[in-house]
Amino acid sequence: MSDILTHTDGGVTTITFNRLDKKNSITAAMYSALADALDAASADAAVRVVVFQGHETIFSAGNDIADFLNNPPSGENAPVIRFLYALSSFAKPVLASVCGPAVGIGTTLLFHCDLVYAGDNAAFSMPFVNLGLCPEAGSSLLVPQMMGYHRACEALLLGEPFMAEAALEVGLVNRVVPPTEANGIAQTQARKLAAKPLSALVETKRLMKSGTAAQVTAKINEELLSFGRMLREPAAREAFGAFMEKRRPDFSKV
Ligand code: COA
Repeated sequence: MSDILTHTDGGVTTITFNRLDKKNSITAAMYSALADALDAASADAAVRVVVFQGHETIFSAGNDIADFLNNPPSGENAPVIRFLYALSSFAKPVLASVCGPAVGIGTTLLFHCDLVYAGDNAAFSMPFVNLGLCPEAGSSLLVPQMMGYHRACEALLLGEPFMAEAALEVGLVNRVVPPTEANGIAQTQARKLAAKPLSALVETKRLMKSGTAAQVTAKINEELLSFGRMLREPAAREAFGAFMEKRRPDFSKV
């Protein structure tokens, strides 16, 4: 079975992370599949809304660390970069249903979604600094904008997780429900949107985002330059090596 499942019904394309044995961590092949799914949904007039979902126990553990070590992304055609551009510029409404851990890009992708529903077990984290890295997906702009600078520092400098209720309080999620209900609520809301005139949805989303769209793209590009460089540096190599060897990283020399 594929690691990314795509299913379209009633004008709603649902994209499911389906790599449970590795906690839905995302490989380059999965980023390609995600970018392809968004491109297809964008081009298909019958698709009006996209929903991302994971499993009741895990949304995504973020980038696959082994894949990142072996094939660090480079160039603007790298699958992760294709995905980021496709998502951040996606014109139709995008929803997400998040249960369990949402790590790294598992959280930062949500800042590009229009509606987010969370299970009460959702735990959001952006531990880039702990991995010797910097934020991605425009999160160094979008996180302080949404959460305020000091809460953004807890999330991005300390890399501390925050739970569903805190995400609700800062406006990252729309509603917190039992994990068994999250995917269903996202589908219900997606179907409500799919019944509305698409042109009005697309224009309303465009107007809400047009003031910041260029800034977001510029920030994604700026972050990518730093992230690509830092991936190859000693701090990230140590963090990733430690994860693979199931030990604590030692940053005393970096
Ligand atoms: N990349 C690659 N493999 C990953 C992974 C990742 N990001 N996250 C988890 N896995 C793998 C583990 O190596 C383990 O594989 P194994 O069974 O072959 O040993 C398997 O998934 C289960 O992970 P485990 O850590 O045992 O599950 P858990 O329920 O105890 O914890 C997480 C779940 C998500 C909290 C934890 O796996 C984690 O913190 N992952 C790393 C997250 C991260 O730093 N992502 C990068 C962000 S840029």
